[in-house]
Amino acid sequence: MYARRRIAAVVGGLAVVVLVVAGVVGLTSMLSRSDAAPADPVAALLGDATTGAPGASEIPVPAQTGVAAQQPVTDEAADEAGGGASDAANEPGAADPCADPVFQQALASGSDADAIAAAGGAESFRSAIAAGAAPCVDLHEAGRTWVVVNKLNALDPIDYWPEPQARAEGVERTSGGHMRADVAAALSQLVTAARGEGAGGIGVNSGFRSYDFQVSTHRSYVGQLGQANADLTSARPGHSEHQTGLAVDVVACSEGCGTIERFGGTVQSDWVAANAHRFGFIIRYGDGDTATTGYEYEPWHLRYIGTDLAALYAAGGYRTLEDFFGMPPAPDYAD
Ligand code: DAL
Ligand code: ZN
Repeated sequence: MYARRRIAAVVGGLAVVVLVVAGVVGLTSMLSRSDAAPADPVAALLGDATTGAPGASEIPVPAQTGVAAQQPVTDEAADEAGGGASDAANEPGAADPCADPVFQQALASGSDADAIAAAGGAESFRSAIAAGAAPCVDLHEAGRTWVVVNKLNALDPIDYWPEPQARAEGVERTSGGHMRADVAAALSQLVTAARGEGAGGIGVNSGFRSYDFQVSTHRSYVGQLGQANADLTSARPGHSEHQTGLAVDVVACSEGCGTIERFGGTVQSDWVAANAHRFGFIIRYGDGDTATTGYEYEPWHLRYIGTDLAALYAAGGYRTLEDFFGMPPAPDYAD
């Protein structure tokens, strides 16, 4: 497991040494806001994924999809959310929420939570989309918690940049660690709960990554692994969930923090797998789901979809966002 990433980590370490010896200078000032996996030498050196983003502490949590309006959910609430893994073919006759002016208004307001509520709840919302009965809901809209970004669905616009961003308060980080502000607030709650429930420390390894930063990151993996293997572990620019600000790579921390490659199998990883949905997160790239997601298992890559949808996702036993919304698998790029 993670064989390619382990290779990349070793090669990456060597590359760092080579680059430093070669006198690569002028990048050190950027390291203070580094936001990428240490396994990636280019990312480690380039560091700053959020150049130009405002400072975290002064950024307010947005009303849209904010955890201020979405408290962590209990397992009971997740059970009540109901639903089950299915696809569009199994969901005939789903009501079209777009015909309802109240839903249209909630959608237009920008509040994802309000829109889901106006649709009649998470399952009504999901099943309408999966049945193709919600034409006004755009799964490509980058600012929505329900956006689907994969090898067949690039960000639109390709250089999308989420605002406002923040760092998760009280959370250790091994890099810059910016992400969408509402996601940062949710992650803080997750990390606090994990610690309180005896799972230990969890830190941030990588949050938001800009288009340009992903260019460097992906190029580095291609150099180390070749195109085919790199594509199994690193998204091409414009196709990474990290660019939405909704994704975060986490690591286990006790006395210092580990690497993403060492996250799987830890107490923290087990806890996250069982509890991330309470805070609005899913593990986006599951074990054995490469044929749908296009990526190898990444137990460290958490994707925020909001507490309503995450509760439904967990209760329904869904394994991929593609299946959840009745979308086609995305194992490969179109070109
Ligand atoms: N590692 C994930 C697939 C990314 O690069 O976004
Ligand atoms: Zn990730």
